[in-house]
Amino acid sequence: MILAEPYRIKVVEPIKMTTKKQRKKILEEAGYNLFLVKAEDIYIDLLTDSGTSAMSHYQWAGLMIGDESYAGCRNFFHLKETVKELFGFDHFVPTHQGRPAENILFMLTIRPGDYVPNNMHFDSTRAHVIDKGGVPVDLVIEDAYDIEKEHPFKGNMDVNKLEDFIKKVGRDKIPLVMLTLTNNTGGGQPVSMKNIKEVKSVCERYGMPLFFDAARFAENAYFIKEREEGYKDKSVREIVYEMMSYADGFTMSCKKDGLVNIGGILAMRDEKLFERAKQLLILMEGFPTYGGLAGRDLEALSIGLREVLDEAYLRWRVGQVRYLGEKLRKEGIPIVLPIGGHAVYIDIKRFLPHIPQSQFPDNAFATSLYLEAGIRTAALGSTAFAEKDKETGKVKYPKLELVRLTIPRRVYTNSHMDYVAEAVIRLYKERDKIKGLRIVYEPEIMRHFSARFEPIG
Ligand code: F0G
Repeated sequence: MILAEPYRIKVVEPIKMTTKKQRKKILEEAGYNLFLVKAEDIYIDLLTDSGTSAMSHYQWAGLMIGDESYAGCRNFFHLKETVKELFGFDHFVPTHQGRPAENILFMLTIRPGDYVPNNMHFDSTRAHVIDKGGVPVDLVIEDAYDIEKEHPFKGNMDVNKLEDFIKKVGRDKIPLVMLTLTNNTGGGQPVSMKNIKEVKSVCERYGMPLFFDAARFAENAYFIKEREEGYKDKSVREIVYEMMSYADGFTMSCKKDGLVNIGGILAMRDEKLFERAKQLLILMEGFPTYGGLAGRDLEALSIGLREVLDEAYLRWRVGQVRYLGEKLRKEGIPIVLPIGGHAVYIDIKRFLPHIPQSQFPDNAFATSLYLEAGIRTAALGSTAFAEKDKETGKVKYPKLELVRLTIPRRVYTNSHMDYVAEAVIRLYKERDKIKGLRIVYEPEIMRHFSARFEPIG
């Protein structure tokens, strides 16, 4: 049966199709870096699912009841009620996105030399742990590194690895344990309830708090309902509540499953930690009843957090990502399996085996797809992660060379997905013609955001 969109369209935003000739010029001007292309010159933007969602008419209506009082605005209390009702937390601070929540949490918990185990850190989380002098440690199950292995919960943490690690470095060196739901870096893969409980029980045994990086909490819960024994007849809402019951706190970039364009949350059970978090929030984001947000943003967020639990929406959402993934898979295009919750990840090592990692095959794919069809994707291989050793000058390349086709929520229809699939399939048939790139300008840090490239040959 066709899984059609569970909404109809009330407002439209025209998107512009350019010609191949125009796109060639645009690419040259942008130094073959898609971050430097104007969004208006993109037909379908699959760079990220973060902050790119379409809001519902209820959320737009919610903006009108924004209370922009400096202190105690009504929308904060709506959000407080939502956080309590959906997640069971009394204490939280609103932030403007996910990373300030991480920053505040880690400022309060990490001492230099500490370790933070996670199934897999997202980039900004990793960077914030390192910024506080900590060491991020990824303890995801080994299967996560096997691109085609069809494990239903490939985001799980290896609990034995966790125990061994605690014994090795000592409990006192670990201020908190984290689980990223779903595991974005590993392909948008979920963590099972069983695994959450097991990790929690290890944390309890050693007296360590468990925090979630809960950016995609609803998609994770939907996968539990779909795949885990005993959860078929539970509502996603109940599953979310149960998941959260095992957490001592969470950071949340609400730009994903919060269905808003801006917003974040840092929640915790510990009252003392909460008091200190509020102080830092005032210093860095704003008064605790608005954090880094306007009153209207808080209202849109309260509504979005409730809407995302609608199972007709989630079935379609996860279904749309799968729809695109299956189309590619049927044509033999190498993708990460199982298909994740928010994106299809293409394995570029197999898509472009003739381009060595030193020639940025991920970006070669991404720029070729843009040239072919005006589609923007995220290059998550050597372009983002290759590192030069400061002493030897030798470059270390990442194990995985992936490009992420990230689907914004409620934004594109399945005919857009058909268009994307056709373009990728066309590119696949002509892949021998795709050439590598060389770098012509590279900044010191965060290279991939502003580097410039040119095609080789
Ligand atoms: N945690 C996870 C798992 C994320 O995917 C992100 C952002 C963050 C934290 C940080 O949140 O951007 O609101 O500060 N991911 C985006 C992406 C940027 O494209 O995957 P933020």
